[in-house]
Amino acid sequence: MTPEAPFIELRTDAFTQPTDEMIDLVRSMGYVYSDLARECPLTDELEALGAEMVGMEASILCPSGTLSNLLGLLTLGRPGSEVIVEADAHIYNRERGGISAIAQLVPRPVRGRRGVLTPEDIQPYIRHEPQARVVNPKWQWSILISRTSLVCIENPHNGVGNMVWNVEQTRAICKLAHSVGAAVFIDGARLLNSAVALNVPASELASPADGIALGLAKGLAAPVGSLFCGSREVVERARTLRQMLGGSMHRPAWLSAAGIIALKKMPERLRIDHENARLLAEQLGEIPGVKVDLEQVQTNTVLFEVTDASWTTETLVNALAERKIRIGSRGDRLFRVVTHHAIGEAQIGSFVSALRTILSSKR
Ligand SMILES: Cc1ncc(COP(=O)(O)O)c(C=O)c1O
Repeated sequence: MTPEAPFIELRTDAFTQPTDEMIDLVRSMGYVYSDLARECPLTDELEALGAEMVGMEASILCPSGTLSNLLGLLTLGRPGSEVIVEADAHIYNRERGGISAIAQLVPRPVRGRRGVLTPEDIQPYIRHEPQARVVNPKWQWSILISRTSLVCIENPHNGVGNMVWNVEQTRAICKLAHSVGAAVFIDGARLLNSAVALNVPASELASPADGIALGLAKGLAAPVGSLFCGSREVVERARTLRQMLGGSMHRPAWLSAAGIIALKKMPERLRIDHENARLLAEQLGEIPGVKVDLEQVQTNTVLFEVTDASWTTETLVNALAERKIRIGSRGDRLFRVVTHHAIGEAQIGSFVSALRTILSSKR
């Protein structure tokens, strides 16, 4: 049985517990083989399934999204070159600087609108050969300039409330990047949320790019895992790098089995999570002193603001924690709640009513 949380967990879908089906399957498994020795059929199956879902040739299982992202940077970027990232991107802000410290890339942050970048946004920041040679060729001006080797997309964009990049937006960035010889990498920690929200196959969103980190352990509820997907050649290079970085696993079969269920069965659950997020947002919007932007609610995440300045982020988070409800914060009196398979109408009702009571206590 899926373990029940001793509280209502709304901070993130990264804390989801495996489903009953995953736990039962893992319990029933017999002898498992080493993936390091390439003898694990379940991991092969998971990697093939993930690659097919995103319309790429191959994929490789990583123990975290951070490692999967790092493999994207290492295989698709060139050391010493620039990588364009959205200013709030996870890969730039929340991965301990691996983008520079390990991948040796120079991040060029560009602010998008709700996490989405357009060709017009990034065009001024692209540095490529012809642009670098415009000046007097005798004066080797171009020798000063590190080129753009990579553009990173995050879909959906977590930092702004898991908002979605659609197919056209993705294609437009890929077209521009490819026209100047740069690759495109997608941080798809929750790509299937976007696919479900848009009602399109995940491959439509992913295949225009050169690589993607496809998360398994967020709303899809696998206990661990992210698949780094790309061409066969890129994924084989990633396999060597994963070993170098300590990310190869001897017996990931149990994780792979759960990952297969995550990819096959859980996307439909995401639809319910999205409906629940909308329900939650609508109910929050009815509480006096709470501001919610309903347009921001595209997937499973709701951002809301508490207008009464006598509350601080900390006092409100703590007041809810005392009632066994955990929510996330995103700044001064700005909060984040995320739906997932342990959150249904009952939990939403309890949270909304607790928040209403707490806020009214100060009026
Ligand atoms: C958009 C995004 N990318 C990457 C990651 C990193 O994933 P992990 O925590 O598995 O390393 C996260 C984690 O929450 C995320 O939200």
